[in-house]
Amino acid sequence: MALAEDLARLRRLTGAKWTRDPEDVLPAWVADMDLPPAPCIDATLRDLIDRGDFGYPQRTTMPTVAEAFAEWQSRYHGWMPPVDRIVPFTDVLHGIDIVLWTNTKPGDGVVLLTPIYPPFIRALESSGRRLIDCPLDPDGWRLDTDVLRSVIDERTTAILMCNPHNPTGRAFDAEELAGLAAVAEEHDLLVLSDEIWADVLHPGATHIPFANVANHRSVIFSAASKAFNLAGLRCALAAVGSDTVMATLDGLPNHFRGAVSTPGALATLAAWTEGHDWLAETQAHLTDQRDHLAGRLAAELPGVSWQIPEATYLAWLDFRGVDGGDEPAARLLDQARIALSPGCDFTDGGRGYARLNVATTRPVLDAVVDRLVGEFA
Ligand SMILES: Cc1ncc(COP(=O)(O)O)c(C=O)c1O
Repeated sequence: MALAEDLARLRRLTGAKWTRDPEDVLPAWVADMDLPPAPCIDATLRDLIDRGDFGYPQRTTMPTVAEAFAEWQSRYHGWMPPVDRIVPFTDVLHGIDIVLWTNTKPGDGVVLLTPIYPPFIRALESSGRRLIDCPLDPDGWRLDTDVLRSVIDERTTAILMCNPHNPTGRAFDAEELAGLAAVAEEHDLLVLSDEIWADVLHPGATHIPFANVANHRSVIFSAASKAFNLAGLRCALAAVGSDTVMATLDGLPNHFRGAVSTPGALATLAAWTEGHDWLAETQAHLTDQRDHLAGRLAAELPGVSWQIPEATYLAWLDFRGVDGGDEPAARLLDQARIALSPGCDFTDGGRGYARLNVATTRPVLDAVVDRLVGEFA
């Protein structure tokens, strides 16, 4: 009954996750959460509608969001970005595209720590930048500084990373980030650090903002969209440590940098000023979901292996032990009618893997795992 109720609610959603596939498919792919919004966000958006408040945004709204971001970062991650270096973007990928296009050249090498979130690969392809592949160590998904140093060539000018890391769920530690900063210094690389997952941390994990390691060569991207499930509202920002990048952004025509919608800005502000308790409760649920998946896989499908994530609500599952083929997600979609993210989309290193999103209700997660186990057990 609980499952039927959850599905009835979720199937009314109009976003990509619940509309892309036919009704008999259970989606566990794109990184949206199947949870109702935080009450503070719900109330903020209802007030906006009640007021009919759809005029041009007030110029001071985004600086207020920037202040809330700085205070949030200071409280949770020990980093206080200066508000005058915080630049709004429509979404994180928009900001990444703009910084790549304006601060690297066609043919430049850009390092990705692979396997990696597929839009990063597309950002390089569409801008004519070369992918410099730095594989993480599959035994724990650690970043090896020697591997990083060895892949860089003379036309490499940037590193594009996400920390915490999608899909592996690693929150890179101080040693890994210091190693990365040292290599960036040696080769004068710009570091684009996408920290959109910083607030989805499981107990015991710490997020270290790259700005606290090497601010002068960094641009940090963030949004409330992962932790508070606001991706459809389009509001993101970058904290620009690099003076060169700041100067290029300042020189761009205004509309080139896009714009944030009023609902996006106000919902983000509500999240970062009033969302503390909701996030703590939600995080507890996400950790329970992660642990529940771990328990079920260990008991029912031990041939599927994974490294328990420290952050994110993603599970990067290795199906090679159950003969899942190169692309287990394709078989799971065809046969088991569950939609996971295909591992090959995350570079060749994702062959044999698939990514599962646990940010749903317990009945839906159990239904997904039942089908997964049924296919491979
Ligand atoms: C690492 C990473 N960056 C960016 C995004 C998307 O952010 P946005 O919708 O703000 O472009 C995601 C979404 O899953 C992500 O995992």
